Amino acid sequence: MDGAIGIFDSGFGGLTVVSEILKQLPGEEIVYFGDTAHLPYGTKSKETVTRFSLKIADFLHRKQGVKIIVVACNTASSCAVEALKENVDIPVVDVITPGARAVPGLTKNNRIGIIGTTATIRSKAYEEVIAKLNPEMKIFTQPCPLFVPLVEEGWLDNQETLLVAKRYLGPLKDEKVDTLILGCTHYPLLKKIITRVMGVNVSLVDSARETASEVKRVLDDRGLRAKAASQTVRHRYFVSDDPDKFVSLGRGFLGKDIENIKLLEL
Ligand code: DGL
Repeated sequence: MDGAIGIFDSGFGGLTVVSEILKQLPGEEIVYFGDTAHLPYGTKSKETVTRFSLKIADFLHRKQGVKIIVVACNTASSCAVEALKENVDIPVVDVITPGARAVPGLTKNNRIGIIGTTATIRSKAYEEVIAKLNPEMKIFTQPCPLFVPLVEEGWLDNQETLLVAKRYLGPLKDEKVDTLILGCTHYPLLKKIITRVMGVNVSLVDSARETASEVKRVLDDRGLRAKAASQTVRHRYFVSDDPDKFVSLGRGFLGKDIENIKLLEL
């Protein structure tokens, strides 16, 4: 059988990337690891996030035999992608580069906002990629740590979340950014409220969609797409804590039921 696509995240958020991959690559099998025991990554140090990420990649590659690893977490992408590429000899796709690449095609005024976890914003990973694409762009960043627990609480469209969003996004609006990178896997679920604050003319870059397109491109380039025989796929999910919670919360991120899930401590 063809190898599966290995995807990991600190927990649930990477399911927004899975959802896009299932849409764009419906014949592919997915093996997902959600490191729920160590959630959140966004408040942790680069060294810690890298250590967790290397263990997970090793599990996906050596124990699950995946053909590609998708780092479906902005924090892990910004902290650990170099270490992963050095240590794993299959393609590694992160969520930062595909998201950043979408920016030049969207902006008209070259004023770009980036929101993400504290660790992602601190890493300056998005700025580095964008600066290489176009050094003229003016970048404005804002960590939004409260967005992750709000999304996990299911508070996607209420007054409290709107207040928090106004507080975080106000300075970016004042800077007249016309393109905003949603640099965290949880933020696509807040698109409605973010648009309410920023206005309909600000383009939102959803890294999940861009990442799925990048995975498709890499698999095509390397001749790694699943053959027709693997249409009857059974996706596998692993979590490091509380599978029941993952199943109930994950539904909102994936947009469908999660089956075939196992608890696994690495
Ligand atoms: N998945 C993380 C990210 O995209 C958000 C949740 C966390 O902090 O672990 O940065």
